[in-house]
Order: sequence, then structure tokens, then C-alpha cells
Amino acid sequence: MKLFATIYIAVIAFAAFSNAQAQNATANLPDFQFLLTQKSEPERDNICKTNMGFCETNCGGPNKAPMNFCNVTTMGWGCGCSDKIPDLSAFQWPINREHCIGSGEACKLACQDPKVPNEKKPDCNLACIDTYTSKCGTAAQPPAYYNVSDPAIVPTYAPPKNSVTDSANNNSTSTNGTNGSQSTNNSASESKKQSSASSINHLGNAAVALVIVASGMSLF
Ligand SMILES: *[C@@H]1O[C@H](CO)[C@@H](O)[C@H](O)[C@H]1NC(C)=O
Ligand SMILES: *[C@@H]1O[C@H](CO)[C@@H](O)[C@H](O)[C@H]1NC(C)=O
Ligand SMILES: *[C@@H]1O[C@H](CO)[C@@H](O)[C@H](O)[C@H]1NC(C)=O
Ligand SMILES: *[C@@H]1O[C@H](CO)[C@@H](O)[C@H](O)[C@H]1NC(C)=O
Ligand SMILES: *[C@@H]1O[C@H](CO)[C@@H](O)[C@H](O)[C@H]1NC(C)=O
Ligand SMILES: *[C@@H]1O[C@H](CO)[C@@H](O)[C@H](O)[C@H]1NC(C)=O
Ligand SMILES: *[C@@H]1O[C@H](CO)[C@@H](O)[C@H](O)[C@H]1NC(C)=O
Ligand SMILES: *[C@@H]1O[C@H](CO)[C@@H](O)[C@H](O)[C@H]1NC(C)=O
Repeated sequence: MKLFATIYIAVIAFAAFSNAQAQNATANLPDFQFLLTQKSEPERDNICKTNMGFCETNCGGPNKAPMNFCNVTTMGWGCGCSDKIPDLSAFQWPINREHCIGSGEACKLACQDPKVPNEKKPDCNLACIDTYTSKCGTAAQPPAYYNVSDPAIVPTYAPPKNSVTDSANNNSTSTNGTNGSQSTNNSASESKKQSSASSINHLGNAAVALVIVASGMSLF
């Protein structure tokens, strides 16, 4: 029981910690915008070719990829195989990975902007690494939105609308800072709760001891 409680508390503490970290990283991100369309034409051309090569390979050969395009202007791309559904994970497609890497670089560059105070630059860089660079090419890579159904369609470069995350930004939940007088008084009742909890724990231990004794007795 005690072990369980300890693990439970550890899990809560960890969740709170990683949540705080995530919020922290996001808060330290600089203002920046990055799209692969900002890259030079030779670079875009190269990324497109690599991406199309992945499509061909994943489909199983040049004549098994009836849909395989990448628009060097928009970086909109698509892949469709004749014998299967392309089964690379989103983060494995070169375009998505390059978008992540480019975002990390653009992010770090933005940290050097005079608008970011010098004392905040290190945290700014860390936020870029946490959010992008360290995640590129892994399942934790942030999603990218370049894939389209036709080479003439310009990608929105953004998540599809009416996605659930948008509603998380409502300000109705904005809490008033906890009022000091309340929290001071809480500590008294808090320790009361704790002591009653631990006495329940003692009772539990006593019960366990009784069960052990009882089962020990039944052995005889
Ligand atoms: C970010 O986290 C560090 C430690 O993890 C903390 O010292 C710092 O105050 C946090 N900054 C913000 C803005 O929350
Ligand atoms: C883009 O890819 C995602 C999954 O990676 C898929 O759900 C979506 O339908 C694709 N969009 C287009 C236009 O192909
Ligand atoms: C690629 O995108 C550009 C810009 O939207 C467009 O003018 C061009 O026609 C597209 N290429 C193809 C093959 O659709
Ligand atoms: C969130 O905000 C939008 C517009 O500000 C509003 O229409 C909606 O009712 C809000 N939702 C909640 C749950 O407060
Ligand atoms: C909160 O929402 C109200 C209306 O829904 C808006 O007038 C106000 O500016 C918002 N405040 C913030 C901090 O977003
Ligand atoms: C927050 O506090 C202000 C005054 O400090 C009060 O007017 C407001 O109603 C409070 N809002 C909530 C949601 O408690
Ligand atoms: C706390 O509450 C009291 C009254 O209940 C109020 O006068 C005081 O301004 C509040 N303090 C804060 C920080 O909201
Ligand atoms: C806090 O608790 C003490 C004793 O438990 C009580 O005397 C006092 O009135 C309480 N203060 C408030 C603001 O409730």
C-alpha cells in the first residue's frame, strides 16, 4: 500500500514536472516562421527528389508509384502506390523531417534577434532544441502539413481547421491567482488530512499483519 502510494505520488510529481517543462519550453520559444519554401531552389529540388525516392522505394519500385509528385515551388507533395498504402510514418518522410530541422535552425536564429534579451538567449536556444531539433526524425517530431492530393494544390502548411486543440485556448479558465489567506489556512486542514490518512495506513498495516498471522495460523 505504501509502495503504491509512493509510486502514485512519483507519477504525479513527474507529470507535473514534465508539464511545467513543456510549458517552459513553449514560453521561451522566439517569434519565427519557417517553411521549406524559404530554402534555395537547389535545396528544395534536392529535398523533393529525396522525398520522391522514398515514395518509389516504399511503393516497391518506379512503376508501382502511380502518384509521386513534389512541387518544388510550393513543396506540396503526394505519394500513392499501386499495390499498397504508403506506410512510412509521417516523421520518416524527408520533407517532414527537413521541415523539422529547418524549423529548429530558424528558431535558433530568431533567438539571436536583438528582440530577445541576452539573458534569455540560452533558454530560447534550449526551447528550440527541445521543441524541434532534438525531435527531428523521431516519432516525437512535430507534424508538418505539406502533403496534398494534387501538385497544383498549394498546401495550407497548417493543421486542418476545427482541430480540437484550438478550443484549449479559451480564456474562460484563466484562474485568479490563489489568494494567500486561503492557502495559509489550508495548511492546517491539510496536515489534519495527512495525519488521518496515515492513521488509515497504520490500520491497513495492522490488518495486513492480522491476515498474515491468520494465514500463518491456518498453516498449523
Ligand atoms: C523554466 O524552468 C527553469 C527550471 O526548470 C526555471 O528555473 C525557470 O524559472 C523556468 N522559467 C519559466 C519562464 O517558467
Ligand atoms: C496528409 O497526410 C495525412 C497523414 O499523414 C493524411 O491524414 C492526410 O489525409 C493527407 N492529406 C492529403 C491531402 O493527402
Ligand atoms: C506548382 O505550384 C505552382 C505554384 O502554385 C504552380 O504554379 C504550378 O503549376 C505547380 N506545378 C504543378 C506541376 O502543378
Ligand atoms: C471559447 O471561446 C469562444 C470564443 O471566444 C466561445 O465562443 C466559446 O463559447 C468558448 N468556449 C468555452 C468553453 O468557454
Ligand atoms: C477573453 O475573452 C473575451 C471575450 O470572450 C475577450 O474580450 C478578452 O479580450 C479575452 N481576454 C484574453 C486575455 O484573451
Ligand atoms: C478575479 O479577481 C477579480 C478581482 O481580483 C474579480 O473581479 C474577478 O471576478 C475574479 N475572477 C474570477 C474568475 O474569479
Ligand atoms: C485576497 O482576498 C482579499 C479579500 O478576500 C483581497 O482583499 C485581496 O486583494 C486578495 N488578494 C489577492 C492577491 O487577490
Ligand atoms: C484560519 O484558521 C484559523 C484557525 O484554524 C481561524 O482562526 C482563522 O479565522 C482562519 N482564517 C480565515 C481567513 O479563515
